[in-house]
Amino acid sequence: MKGIILAGGLATRLRPLTWVTNKHLLPIYNKPMIYYPIMAMKKAGITDVLISTSPDHAGDFAELLKDGSEFGLKFYYSIQSNPKGGIANAIGLAENYARGDKILVILGDNIFGYNLKKDVEEFINKKKGAIIYGVKIKNNFKQYGIIQLDKKNNVLSIEEKPENPKSDIAQIGIYMYDERVFDFIKKLKPSDRGELEVTDLNNLYLKEKTLTCKIIDWWIDAGTSHDELLRANNLAAEKIYNHELE
Ligand code: DAU
Repeated sequence: MKGIILAGGLATRLRPLTWVTNKHLLPIYNKPMIYYPIMAMKKAGITDVLISTSPDHAGDFAELLKDGSEFGLKFYYSIQSNPKGGIANAIGLAENYARGDKILVILGDNIFGYNLKKDVEEFINKKKGAIIYGVKIKNNFKQYGIIQLDKKNNVLSIEEKPENPKSDIAQIGIYMYDERVFDFIKKLKPSDRGELEVTDLNNLYLKEKTLTCKIIDWWIDAGTSHDELLRANNLAAEKIYNHELE
């Protein structure tokens, strides 16, 4: 199974911090933001990781992360020329790297302590399908994809940043896909905001009834606002102190 970390986009919500650098290089407590998804990949037992970023700061990623050997991993790099292409567009660019393999995708601004190792091992043996992850949230529903589940945790719907959220479960930035993902991405059309949406991709698996959802206990998307970035710093410090995060 191959790993992909998405670290592109414009991060307009974090300006002026992101005028001259990439969001994922900003500090979260004691290390750059992108170290957290990298450590999550390593904990999951994934050894090959593609870092997808925008052309303007790609050199900074290469300078910081190099070939991955300092992490005990092997890094590959991919350039997403259209920073507003969308998450599914960035995943699609990984086709040459990952065709024929299952993939684990982690959004570069997501921080969580959950260990994906067991899920990865199970997913490798699964015939087909996709896994998404959810967290119960209390506010900011309109900033996320929202997952509606039935009592047995079967997914009923996923809506991207809905006006009227059907549940309090946010779809977080961890996704596992089978080998067919690149064919599914080719079927997607840009959304109203002009992006190939990860939610539309996940809905193709939902339609096929091969999508499962797992709920984890804590997570933070450090990229949504200055307040969440600050909260991510404090939360990371606390979790590292408590040995819940590296
Ligand atoms: O964090 C969870 C949320 O992430 C989910 O609840 C949503 O369903 C999902 O669409 C996404 O929403 P965001 O509005 O937070 O996405 P954002 O534009 O911040 O991008 C998420 C990450 O993906 C970020 O680390 C940058 C990267 N990215 C984003 C886009 C649009 C790319 O690498 N390329 C892109 O084209």
